[in-house]
Amino acid sequence: MRISHHFIDDLISRVDIIDIIDSYIPLRKTGKNFAACCPFHQEKTPSFTVNPDKQFYYCFGCQAHGNALTFTMEYAHLDYVEAIHELASRVGVQVVYEQGSAPTSLEQHDELYQLMAEVAHYYQQQLRRTDIAKNYLKNRGLSGEIAKEFGLGYAPEGWNNLSKHLGSSVKIQESLIKVGLLIENDKKQSYDRFRHRIMFPIYDQRGRVIAFGGRVLDDSKPKYLNSPETALFHKSKTLYGWHRIKKYHPDKIIIVEGYLDVIALAQYGIHNVVATLGTAATQEHLAVLFRQVAEVIFCFDGDAAGNKAAERILKNVALPLLKNGRLINFVFLPQNNDPDTLIRQIGREKFDTYLNAPTPLSKFLFDSLLEQVNLNHLDGKARLIELATPLLEQLPPQSSHATLFWNVLANLTGVPQEKLMKKNFPNPKVHTGKSIFSTPPINTLIQKIIKNLLYYPKLSQFVVNPQELANVNLPDINLLVELLELYKGNPQLTLARIYEYWRNTQYSHIIEELNGQKALLTESYVEEHVEKEFVEEIKCLQDYYKTQRIESLHRKAQFGSLSSQEVQELNTLLLSKS
Ligand code: GTP
Ligand code: MN
Repeated sequence: MRISHHFIDDLISRVDIIDIIDSYIPLRKTGKNFAACCPFHQEKTPSFTVNPDKQFYYCFGCQAHGNALTFTMEYAHLDYVEAIHELASRVGVQVVYEQGSAPTSLEQHDELYQLMAEVAHYYQQQLRRTDIAKNYLKNRGLSGEIAKEFGLGYAPEGWNNLSKHLGSSVKIQESLIKVGLLIENDKKQSYDRFRHRIMFPIYDQRGRVIAFGGRVLDDSKPKYLNSPETALFHKSKTLYGWHRIKKYHPDKIIIVEGYLDVIALAQYGIHNVVATLGTAATQEHLAVLFRQVAEVIFCFDGDAAGNKAAERILKNVALPLLKNGRLINFVFLPQNNDPDTLIRQIGREKFDTYLNAPTPLSKFLFDSLLEQVNLNHLDGKARLIELATPLLEQLPPQSSHATLFWNVLANLTGVPQEKLMKKNFPNPKVHTGKSIFSTPPINTLIQKIIKNLLYYPKLSQFVVNPQELANVNLPDINLLVELLELYKGNPQLTLARIYEYWRNTQYSHIIEELNGQKALLTESYVEEHVEKEFVEEIKCLQDYYKTQRIESLHRKAQFGSLSSQEVQELNTLLLSKS
């Protein structure tokens, strides 16, 4: 049931982003662009800007950016498929599905949401009727009020309660299987997934029930059972508690581990809390949060597991997201405590002292690195550089975090900052003298070239034969070549279309990192600055390839002999470099 890529591309080129956005928030023309007060953050003077040529928007205040589809998703809180349907209906076209897959209509989705709501209601009813479940919650200190606010319920014992309650028609059975509430065995018999469990409905950002978590009432295993991934539920993007906290207009958000942590803190009046769903936090989760707030606080148990989890976040998740103005902090609770047990034990006021004195990411990072080395020895300093460099390289280049972190490393080791930042880049000695531009390190150069191309497709004319670059042995080179080929066939491709083309592909990391601000600069800027820079950068790539190739031919010559063809190639290379 996949929507045809071709259709999506066609849709993006048919809609006009100005019409779409203007229908939600009135736009005002300002020169080439259109402007409005940003709908994604609070402001009094307009910094939300839409560029009709690129079909792209960007907010100078909160960096929100994207195409018409992104806007529809974010503004109307629609998911991807819903937003496509919305845009399609705007231009009066029928959504086209890939061949061989039966279309699921939105109406069918609507029915699934409806069904989830009914099931949640049923579980709530059952909770009211079942003393053992009510007592369990009471014993854990939950008020009836808070249980109601979070929609808590109870799935009774028995294997086919849902069918008994909702009907056993084939259609209902199929829908219940689709949303993960019924499990079908080999013999095509189905039974209730959740039995004799406290039920936590999981909501999407529009407040619709999309899944459930179910907890046992005793010590049996598994303690929690969660809905599987379904058409409605995507774990890596969903945060428990997220939908209800917007009304509190939080300026920072605390991430905890469990459902009951979110609920307990809410009961004590701390409302800016979400939990991941039995999985570790992902970059997608953080991206969702950073769209709303500038500060995210991870709250972990103060034991070894909590420390490990925090380290994982540090090494694999957080660093690339640390753009200017963003903050990531950690709170470590005393051993053997989670937020739920701790706040019930020490109360709100003392709990706040933990929240108010978090460990900044920078401190956590350097503390954990310094634990591993002895700075009294040169070897220890060298080791520190080795350990820190791959981490610091993840920071957004040119961000103030990057500058500050490298500076700390320089102070700790006595190695000048410029040396540290270059150390690991196999940047060959191209670029001596002449250039007035500082070319970025080679392994971020490609990304920079790609981004510039996306903003200024005209630059593609400066690369006559993209395939010549295909041999450069650097990450993302294939992406660059593919992009150049795309533009060759169609220099009119808008940023909006490419943006869509790569959504959820192996290339989407580039899209995620796009700094939409550039999308709005005028073309004359291109002529004065970006063109020269681009030509230099492409040359730098080519030189890099040549250096690599020369080295490899030299090595080969040392250990054996070169074919006459290779000798010729080497000569040509050496000549072209001198
Ligand atoms: P309580 O013991 O009820 O206080 O649970 P908790 O909220 O403290 O949960 P815990 O810290 O043990 O686990 C944190 C989160 O991990 C839970 O909210 C669940 O989402 C998830 N989780 C815990 N145990 C299991 C399990 O056995 N299976 C699965 N799939 N998820 C689990
Ligand atoms: Mn707990």
